[in-house]
Amino acid sequence: MGDGLSILGFSGSLRRGSVNTAVLAELGRLSPKGVALQLADYRELPHFDPDLGEVEAVERLRTQVHHADAVLIATPEYNYSIPGPLKNALDWLSRPAYKSVFAGKPVGVLSASPSPVGGARAQQHLKTTLFGMVARIFPHPEVAIGGASDRIKDGRVVHEGTRQSLARYIAGFVAWAPRQRH
Ligand SMILES: Cc1cc2nc3c(=O)[nH]c(=O)nc-3n(C[C@H](O)[C@H](O)[C@H](O)COP(=O)(O)O)c2cc1C
Repeated sequence: MGDGLSILGFSGSLRRGSVNTAVLAELGRLSPKGVALQLADYRELPHFDPDLGEVEAVERLRTQVHHADAVLIATPEYNYSIPGPLKNALDWLSRPAYKSVFAGKPVGVLSASPSPVGGARAQQHLKTTLFGMVARIFPHPEVAIGGASDRIKDGRVVHEGTRQSLARYIAGFVAWAPRQRH
């Protein structure tokens, strides 16, 4: 399974040295042959404002999501929820409501945080948002990486148990995602 699957990854963190970006990179390395994981760049998006009409950076991102077979989002938790820039990107991409590029799109959600909770609250909020966008949400296994600054160093997942969880996650995800296509 997984042959020819293109995945677009969104890191909820814009900072260099992000553990969540590192999680996506690790998932890319752990992916079976034939799976291509590319990272989305959404830092140029303006604040959501429908009065802006068609925004080139939004349209480019929308096209990337449209062409991806599946999406993976790894996010930190900011004040018990998801980071503003990520929510802003999702708000742009969520239009037209219920018929956006995310409608029916297979999406996997992960989180990583230095705290013991591992961003689980943000992950739950993100799933609620994606539910509102009628995306198909990968239900199981769930991965919320606590103590992330000890487990992920210099962009690499150095904790073997975490690597194994990620390997199980990506194997399950690439088997599940193609089955969600209409
Ligand atoms: C504004 C802000 C709010 C934060 N709130 C939380 C929080 O509610 N829960 C949590 O576990 N970590 C919180 N943190 C810590 C982040 O999880 C951590 O700094 C970092 O962003 C981890 O992800 P990254 O390495 O991918 O950037 C917060 C950090 C910032 C900057």
